[in-house]
Amino acid sequence: MNFKKTLAAAPLLLLPFTLQAADLENGKKLSRSCALCHGQYLQGVAGDLYPRLAGLPSGYVENELHRLQEGRRKAHMPMLITSMVDMLSGSDMEDIANYMEHINVPAAHKRSIMQAPGDVAKGKEVYLEEECDGCHNKDGSGKPKKDIPPLRGQHTSYLTKQIEEFKNITRIHDGEDEKEDSSFAEFNQDMVRDLVAYLSTLDD
Ligand code: HEC
Ligand code: HEC
Repeated sequence: MNFKKTLAAAPLLLLPFTLQAADLENGKKLSRSCALCHGQYLQGVAGDLYPRLAGLPSGYVENELHRLQEGRRKAHMPMLITSMVDMLSGSDMEDIANYMEHINVPAAHKRSIMQAPGDVAKGKEVYLEEECDGCHNKDGSGKPKKDIPPLRGQHTSYLTKQIEEFKNITRIHDGEDEKEDSSFAEFNQDMVRDLVAYLSTLDD
């Protein structure tokens, strides 16, 4: 065994692979134009349809950027025009996603999630009965290592829009087959409202 070589490689092996490969400075530079809509610290815009990106799991954001680029998720047209998200290279997407995961929003700029209208107790029942907790976790924090996004701490009008899109199959939830019945098919308006009301109470 070549001892010298093994020792030299050891510190690198200890770093998580994504951080080793990603260029956070490049991610920061490329993320400037995103602030126009997603907020100065990419904390999103409360009461609007601009989601919080700061702190989302990098694997999730990278997947979504690929989906937007490949047309598997319908992109917000102005986002393509302003930020040319559809022109980013694979490594740019990785850099952006890693930068976003590591953004610390200063306390003064944190957007707390306002409690959304609806029956919180019923929303909790829906969350547990439909087994959302199995993937998004009991506290709504998601499973970063499995690229499953958090639902808590996300702006509620954005979440409502996503659930409606899953229901109408204009956005595909968790790789579900378009032809299969979506797990959101039987959700009525009250269920969506109550669910989002519950999620708004899980704010981090
Ligand atoms: C002109 C406004 C605008 C700009 C600029 C913009 N976005 Fe967006 N972005 C949006 C809107 C609106 C949505 C929500 C779309 C929807 O409802 O699906 C969104 C959604 C996203 C999502 C999905 C979030 C999630 O939780 O699934 C990602 C990732 C994203 N944007 C990344 C970026 C990046 C990276 C940039 C900069 C390179 C950027 N955006 C610039 C408006 C914008
Ligand atoms: C089997 C695992 C699994 C279950 C169960 C599950 N989800 Fe998801 N969910 C995911 C994954 C993975 C994504 C990211 C998917 C993508 O864009 O393709 C996601 C995305 C979402 C998003 C979009 C978040 C964003 O930032 O845009 C919402 C909202 C959501 N799920 C709500 C729910 C609700 C409500 C339930 C229960 C009815 C549920 N999910 C059950 C795996 C799951």
